[in-house]
Order: sequence, then C-alpha cells, then structure tokens
Amino acid sequence: MRNTCIFFTGLLFFYLVSCTSKEQITVENNGFKPYKPPVGYEDAALRAEQILTNFSIEEKISFIGGHNLFFIQGADSFHIPRLYLSDATQGVHIRKDLDGQLGKSTAFPCPISLASTWNTELAGKYAKAIGEECRAGDIAVLLGPGMNLYRISQNGRNFEYFGEDPYLASRMIENYVVGVQSTGTIATLKHFVTNNTDYRRRTSNSVVDERALHELYLPAFKAGIDAGAMAVMTSYNQVNGEWAGQSSYVINNLLRRQLGFKWLVMSDWWSIWDPEKAIKSGQDLDMPGHGIEGNEYLSKIGDPFLRSNAKRLLDEGKVTEGDIHRMAKNVLQISIAMGLDKRPVKDTSYLKKFPEHEEIALQTAREGIVLLRNEGNILPVSNSGSNSILLTGQFVEKIPMGGGSAEVEGYNHVNMLNALKTEFGDQIQYIPEPTAEDYKKASVVLVSIGTLDSEGRDSPFELDENTISLVSQAAQNSDKVVVIVNSGRGVKMSDWNEKVQGIIYSWYPGQTGYVALAEILSGKTNPSARLPISIEKKFEDSPGYPYIPEGESLYTDWKTDVNMELPIYDIVYDEGVLVGYRWYERKKIEPLYPFGFGLSYTSFEYSGIKVSTNTMGPGDTVQVEFILKNTGGSKGAEIAQLYVQDLESSVLRPVKELKGFKKVWLGPGESKVVRIPVNYKDLAFWDENSKGWKTEPGDFNLLIASSSDNIRLTQKITAR
Ligand code: BGC
Repeated sequence: MRNTCIFFTGLLFFYLVSCTSKEQITVENNGFKPYKPPVGYEDAALRAEQILTNFSIEEKISFIGGHNLFFIQGADSFHIPRLYLSDATQGVHIRKDLDGQLGKSTAFPCPISLASTWNTELAGKYAKAIGEECRAGDIAVLLGPGMNLYRISQNGRNFEYFGEDPYLASRMIENYVVGVQSTGTIATLKHFVTNNTDYRRRTSNSVVDERALHELYLPAFKAGIDAGAMAVMTSYNQVNGEWAGQSSYVINNLLRRQLGFKWLVMSDWWSIWDPEKAIKSGQDLDMPGHGIEGNEYLSKIGDPFLRSNAKRLLDEGKVTEGDIHRMAKNVLQISIAMGLDKRPVKDTSYLKKFPEHEEIALQTAREGIVLLRNEGNILPVSNSGSNSILLTGQFVEKIPMGGGSAEVEGYNHVNMLNALKTEFGDQIQYIPEPTAEDYKKASVVLVSIGTLDSEGRDSPFELDENTISLVSQAAQNSDKVVVIVNSGRGVKMSDWNEKVQGIIYSWYPGQTGYVALAEILSGKTNPSARLPISIEKKFEDSPGYPYIPEGESLYTDWKTDVNMELPIYDIVYDEGVLVGYRWYERKKIEPLYPFGFGLSYTSFEYSGIKVSTNTMGPGDTVQVEFILKNTGGSKGAEIAQLYVQDLESSVLRPVKELKGFKKVWLGPGESKVVRIPVNYKDLAFWDENSKGWKTEPGDFNLLIASSSDNIRLTQKITAR
C-alpha cells in the first residue's frame, strides 16, 4: 500500500514537473508604453508661446507653409533648426536631387509584409531602425507610418499600409510609432482619412458614415495618437464633400476633438485648395507650401498656398491672428518637445547600426513571407527529392519594390536568383523561357510572378495575360509547381490556384528578403506569417467594388493624378463596417484565402480554454487562457487569434471581429499556456445615436482561431 502511494505520489510529482517545465504563461500586449517626448506637451507649448512673442505676424506666417519642397522653417535665434521631412514607412526614401542625403538607406520588406508577421515587437524594431537612419540622414520628421485600411485590392498603395483589420493595424502602428520616436525622430500618421484608393485621389470624395469611420478607418490613427505620435498628415481626397486638408469636420472634429490629437497637422503635398477654409479647419502646415516653376500640371492649380494668402485673409478679416498664432505654435512645438533646440538632428554615429538594420529587414522577411498552399507537402523542396529546381518568371534578377514617395532603393541587394543559388547551389536552373521538356525534367518548378504597384495609380486585381499563361504552361507540364507572388496586395489567383501545388506570397521583400524566401523553400526557416488581408476569388466579390467612375478605366500616369479639372466623383462606402473578412463572412462569400491564414511546416493543437470570469460589466477585463501545442516535427510559430462574436445585436454587426492575438514560438512537442485579455469595450460597436461605444448586454462568443475561417476553441461569456 505504502509503495503504491509512493509510486502515485511520484507519478503526480513527475506529471506536475513535466507540465510546469513545458508550460509558460504569455500575456498579450504586456508592457506596451506610449512614447513620452523629452519635453512634455504643456511645457513645450509654453516655450513656443514665449518664442512667438518675438515675432511679427508676417514672421509667424512664414512658419505655416513648407519651403523647398521638404523643409519647414526653424527659428535660428532660439536654436530651433529648419527641419527636413522625409518619406516613409518602409525605410528612408533618398532624394538624389537634394544635397546632404544619406549615401544609402535600408530597403525593408514593405509594411503589408511587416503586418503579415503579426509580430508587434518586430514592428517596433523595424521602425526604430528607420528612425535611426533618419537621425543619420538629418531627417527630423519621418513622413510615416502610412495606415490607410485595405478596402480595395486594386489600391496602388496597399503595400505601404497594414492590411484590412483595424485591430491588427493598431497594434503594429502603436509599436511602430514608439520605435521611430524613441530615436528622437518624429513620426507622421498618414493619410487622414479614408484615402483607401489612389485612383483620382485628389478628385475623389469618400462618402463614409461615422460608424465605419470609428470601427474601421480611425482606430489605427487613434492607436498611433495614443502611442504619442507628434504629427498627422491629412489626405488628398474629400471626405463627405470637403477636401480632408481643409475640412473642419476631419481635422477639428474627428482628429482633434474625437481622437484627441494635440500636436502638428500637415497637409499632403499640394492638397489645399481654399486657404481660408484650411486655416479655419485646424490645419497647421501647408506642404510643400509653394508650387514648382515650370511644372506643367502644378502650374494650373494657381496659388492656393497658405503662406501667400494668409496676410490678405487677415486684412479681409476672414481669419484671425489667433489662427495664425496657433499654427505657428504647433510647428515650433514639435521641435521643442523633441529637444531639437538642445541637440542636433543629425547623428552620424547611427551609421554604424546599418548591419543591425539589415538583420531586422531580413528577420521581417522571414516572418512576413506567407505560405498559402502546400499540396502534398511539396515544400520544403527537400520533400520532393529536389535535385533540379527550375526557376522562371519575373523579378528573378531585379528586386521588385513599391513605387512613389515610399520607394527605397536599398543596398547589398540579394536578388532571387542569387539567394536561391546560395541556398541550393547547382540545383537551381534559371531558364527564362523553359520548354515543356525543361518543366518535365525538373523535380520542382518555381514560377515567380507579381505586380509593380505604386503611389498615384491603382492596378487591376487580374494578372496580365503573359503571367497567367506562364503559370498555366508550368502547370500543364509539371505537377511540382510552386508560384511565388511578389506584390503589395492581393491578386487574382483563382484561375490557377488549384492547378499548382504551392503558393508563396513574398510581397516586396526588401533588399535581402529573397534570402528568407530561399530559407523557407529549403526548410531552414519555418514560415510563420499570416495574411493581414482576405484575398478574393474575383474582384467583383470584394466590398468596395466597383469604385471608379462609370466609363473610366484605370490609368497609369501622373497627369491624371494632378488634374484638378476632372469632376469630383463619389466613392460611396456603402458596405459600412463590412470590410475584409467582415464583408466576406456576413455576405457568405468565400474568399480564396481568408484573413489570418498562413501555413507552417508543423502543426498546432489548441485545448483547454478557460476564462477568468463568465460575466463582464463596464470596465471589466476577462482573461482568456488556453493551451497551444506544437504537434509536428519542427520548431514553428503559431499566431493564435481571438475574435469576438456578438450573438444578438440591435444593429448589423460583423460575424466576428479580431480583438487579440499572440504569436507563439514552440519547439516540437512543446506547449504553452497563452493568455489574451478581452475588455468590456472590445465587445462594443460605435453607436451613431449616442455617438459613443456601446456594449449591449447579452451573450458573446470568444473565438480562438488559427485563421478567420478556422475556429479552434469557443467560450461563451455574458455582458451585463
Ligand atoms: C504622398 C505622401 C508623401 C508626400 C511627400 C505625397 O505624394 O501622398 O505620402 O509623404 O508626397 O513625399
């Protein structure tokens, strides 16, 4: 009896030890701290006011518009330098026509790829690296992060943003802002607001309701503001009938009053048309503040600039000295708060951090490249007995990048061909135009395709004929085809998705991101990214379709972009709060690949969901806990996603909404306890009647999922 007892006690001890040694508590968003500038808001305001007492009204006016395209004026006698403002979210855009530019800057994977990592800590490191390059390059204000929501797959700027979900974008953005500003570089949240397509962006009017604004289009800005961002850029488009850059509704009401933004507001470049309205709207800074001589398109816009019109408007009594004073104060205040009157902007000691930045860029690609299809486990390629890997298609020798102001050239480039050669040696055969025989001989066929997206234009969801025929040809001649998609957004894959065995979404992977692609192909790196967007089967399925004016077709030139003679056209956001998976789920339209989806070379099991309480009242938080186990044979990361589902509501709500996630790394056989908090407000919708967030009493499901279409665990709770 005694022996049996000892045996069972021993067994229990062994069980407890083995459980606790394997399990570890992880908590979502633990330790996030907003950025605090060296000089607080109030003190910096006071100092700016003091300085302004020394200036005449004409001198104050010179602060309210930019100079030399990318600069704002300083105040020499008070040691406030003129500031250089530079693009953008994915790295420093070097302007070769300007003096004193950085010799090089790191080309990071594009922001939609960063969003695919779902790694908030990495977002902070990525942004810190960019902030450091700004310091090295004398850049005081970074014109990023961009954060317009992915509403339409055709948007040429989707690559610059963080996908379709406001919760995911918010968590990435807040870490981004803190990362940039921790280096002493000011971050600019852009483009405020509803600039969700680039087709005729200056002559489009986004017609959008307040609920959609609050639930979808404002949260990432709010997160950036709460994280401490010190600048916001308004957008080109009109919002409900007025250009954002001169709209009191947009700036005074939404941005300043409702979101609580206190610092500097600037216009996007050439986007103010009525100086009186702009000055009255809460706008502070007209960028670039002047025209460009000899520019055939811009010369047509006349002189709507704030610096040249302010005195006249004052004399006519249309604006007040108080208005101008506020604008000048807000311009000076950011420099004072950041301590730029006490230290130089430029610090070349950051140049030695470039190798570290390269490593962060590569890590982002490793965690940002999404494996979408892996039929018969064709990948990693060693599974296919790969002695000859045929590589063909586009972007093999030249690295694709998103264009426009966000473009970053990079250095130390490793193109796809070289990355694959380094990883696979002679097994790689690059054949630009393979024959049927070539395809048949190869043990794996890699077909690289994609799109070159850019600011200033949108591009079709459909791939061009040549690309489609290239994929079809490969699929006809081989049953070992892996397609690599290089793009900044979703593209149409439904024509050939079933005919190929593998699909990898590598986005624009930056200067060395193809090294990560090679590692994923060989199995050295286990893919861990998840889509931050839904990819529709056909464009007609998507929430914002159609959006370009009847009879017009997509253009590819800048001429249309600045043509203010075009009539304003409405983009009606009549899908309301149903964007992305919120739309596909409510409308029961199956996308080709759902939001949150991505494959790994290992597998994960979810079990044991528990909640700290079954009922919640205002101000309460429930801790949701579950066990995640790696049940496969290799180390990998799972992104556990928490969605909230309102079981009964007085208004139409999405079937579910993301309200938490955690990226968890696990070795083979390893398990961890994951804990994600849900607040009472996470259950709420924006109530248009009370103009506030409202949680209706009743039952909610908390869904733990591995992607938006794959719910692993469910727990019901009740809101009081
Ligand atoms: C873009 C902004 C950019 C600005 C300055 C504009 O065309 O829309 O995102 O920051 O140019 O380069």
